[in-house]
Amino acid sequence: MMTIVPAHLNEANDKLVLLDQTLLPVEEKFLELDKVEDIWEAIKKLRVRGAPAIGVAAGFGIYLAVKDFETDNFNEFEAFFLKNKKYLASSRPTAVNLFWALDRMTYRLQVEQNKSIKEIKEALLEESQKILVEDQAMGRKIGEYGLSLLQPGMGLLTHCNAGGLATSGFGTALAPMYLGHSKKYDFKVFADETRPLLQGSRLTTWELDQAGIDVTVITDNMASMVMKEGKIDAVLVGCDRVAANGDTANKIGTSGVAILAKEYGIPMYVLGPTSTIDLNTPTGNEIEIELREPEEIGNGFGRRTAPESVKAYNPAFDVTDAKYITAIITEKGVLYPPFTESIKKIFE
Ligand code: MRU
Repeated sequence: MMTIVPAHLNEANDKLVLLDQTLLPVEEKFLELDKVEDIWEAIKKLRVRGAPAIGVAAGFGIYLAVKDFETDNFNEFEAFFLKNKKYLASSRPTAVNLFWALDRMTYRLQVEQNKSIKEIKEALLEESQKILVEDQAMGRKIGEYGLSLLQPGMGLLTHCNAGGLATSGFGTALAPMYLGHSKKYDFKVFADETRPLLQGSRLTTWELDQAGIDVTVITDNMASMVMKEGKIDAVLVGCDRVAANGDTANKIGTSGVAILAKEYGIPMYVLGPTSTIDLNTPTGNEIEIELREPEEIGNGFGRRTAPESVKAYNPAFDVTDAKYITAIITEKGVLYPPFTESIKKIFE
């Protein structure tokens, strides 16, 4: 199976290597970054994107931000670390993996506080590498659990990109597709284009096509039509934050797809690592939704598609109510409603 690593550390020169996803599918360009401002910009501008990959980039980002800070004093080092943590955390608000990874790095910092600053830096590097390695393993498990719910020959619909480009390996929603493909499941995948930034048509089709998986791009407003035509047997999407009651924030448009799926009696699966489940967020109402520049709608990819004088509303995510979700597939197993209970249980 093909794996993609959209964000990793080049240990030879201590730089974060990112595949610039804003240029795909036209150009495959890798960036090498070591300044925290550039890493912040790369997350903000979606050069690296997708909840787990943002977490991986943030883990390396905070390590790179503090690795050259000279001091023998832990409190001084910690203050500098926390300042950079706050800065990186301000890049995007919705995907909880960003905060999860930064909190995990902070926890490691505190565990190591009695060691020398040199040893603390080594521990931070180790922790950031662990986030990446665990992310790869999580994709494999999600693929296995996801595939157990699917049959050969099925038509699958996905929205946005929750593939290798959004994680460090097989992705979440696309992981069962890769695993199924290696077992000759012969899925027919439909990828929503995913306006306004086209993660579906630019990224999902790019990676599935390279893997040899049968993929067809549709515009977002065709989902109802393909469902009605009987082409879709299951919907598989990723997630940016799952609240404690199962309400799920994912790319704008996901909730509409979920409502359609319910109407047509098609199972709606949300796939994501447990690091995307946020027990501190009781319901979807408390999830902060990122509002992006109106220009992405009215002047996307350098071409005017609405008069300059017209306002555009550009929420990057929406919340799918738990009642529309058939199951949440994690690396620890498949969760079914009532999600408040099944989620609580998985964290016990
Ligand atoms: O704005 P993006 O491209 O970062 O949004 C990505 C998504 O909505 C994905 O579906 C989600 O992060 C899950 S990725 C495994």
